Amino acid sequence: MPELSTPRRATISAVASYVPERIVTNAELAKRLDTSDDWIVTRTGIRERRMGAPGETTSTMGAEAVRRLLARRGLSPDNVDALIVATATPDMMFPATACLIQDQLGLSQAWGFDLSAACSGFLYAMTVGAQLVAAGAHERVIVVGADLMSSIIDPFDRTTAVLFGDGAGAALLEPAEPEYGLLDFYHRVDGSGRNDLLMPAGGSLLPASAATVAARQHFLKQNGKVVFKFAVTQMVESVNILLRRNGLTASDLTLVIPHQANQRILDAVAERLCVPHERVASVLARYGNTTGATLPLALDAALAEGKIKRGDLVVFAAVGAGFSAGATLVRWS
Ligand code: ACO
Repeated sequence: MPELSTPRRATISAVASYVPERIVTNAELAKRLDTSDDWIVTRTGIRERRMGAPGETTSTMGAEAVRRLLARRGLSPDNVDALIVATATPDMMFPATACLIQDQLGLSQAWGFDLSAACSGFLYAMTVGAQLVAAGAHERVIVVGADLMSSIIDPFDRTTAVLFGDGAGAALLEPAEPEYGLLDFYHRVDGSGRNDLLMPAGGSLLPASAATVAARQHFLKQNGKVVFKFAVTQMVESVNILLRRNGLTASDLTLVIPHQANQRILDAVAERLCVPHERVASVLARYGNTTGATLPLALDAALAEGKIKRGDLVVFAAVGAGFSAGATLVRWS
């Protein structure tokens, strides 16, 4: 009889993040848009967001987050086996932003690729990276969530311009001790939501042309109310599925780290899960919605504030364009 052994899992062994220096306040937006600090704070919880300087891109922000990650873990660039970059704003359609970061940092032993799942990107990338570690194929996989949202947001559309910001985060996945690390995930996509959150042009459906530019089709469009509803129901359902099948209840969770889109979404998630608001991570006020970067930014902030300690159960949840959705359960090591 073969000996039964605990399956190998991945754990998050280090986290780092980067945001551009420039802060854009609600008051600054209200100078050029028909909006107000009061409307933005009340309806979204966002007070300010970051905006990349000229020359800053998704790859330069992602590379800085990875540089900080390697320094934090005391690793050199050639210690990395693979790099997965979750982004909706790659520097270019191709080559992949992962290749650009690999080159900027000299990750001499790493292969990598980009993963497209909008705001669920970092969650999905963690799952893919964790499987590479769990399978024994790799010892160190870096997962990046980075988005320069200012490159695809219509500065004159008040319904989206107030919501988004730029930023990047990175996590290192390494083999976990038994009983620790990424324990379980539940992910799903529902492509019937494809027209509720999208950037219509620039792909094979509507290649860039003077007409697509004139129609402002290279900017993000969204049906805010539909996305709002889907975000609440799907994040709650995803977390509940994980709790149920792992024999847990919401009171076992030290921290819920949801995708950061709107404070009212986070409050509704907290209420429906019956989790106190202080156990739902939020960095929305400072950064707005940074798409692929929201989870690592919120995780990095929670760690800096001492909100997570060894042995704690943490659940990540996300919803994004697609629609894409899911949650991941982690026992912190
Ligand atoms: N300032 C002032 N007024 C505004 C603004 C603004 N910035 N934006 C919209 N309004 C107006 C609207 O025009 C509307 O006016 P009307 O009543 O005269 O028509 C009114 O405010 C109410 O608008 P609603 O759309 O009903 O506002 P709502 O409370 O639904 O909030 C919001 C809108 C913030 C977009 C919300 O629906 C939301 O957060 N949705 C989820 C968005 C989200 O999560 N997106 C990202 C997903 S992740 C990804 O994959 C990228």
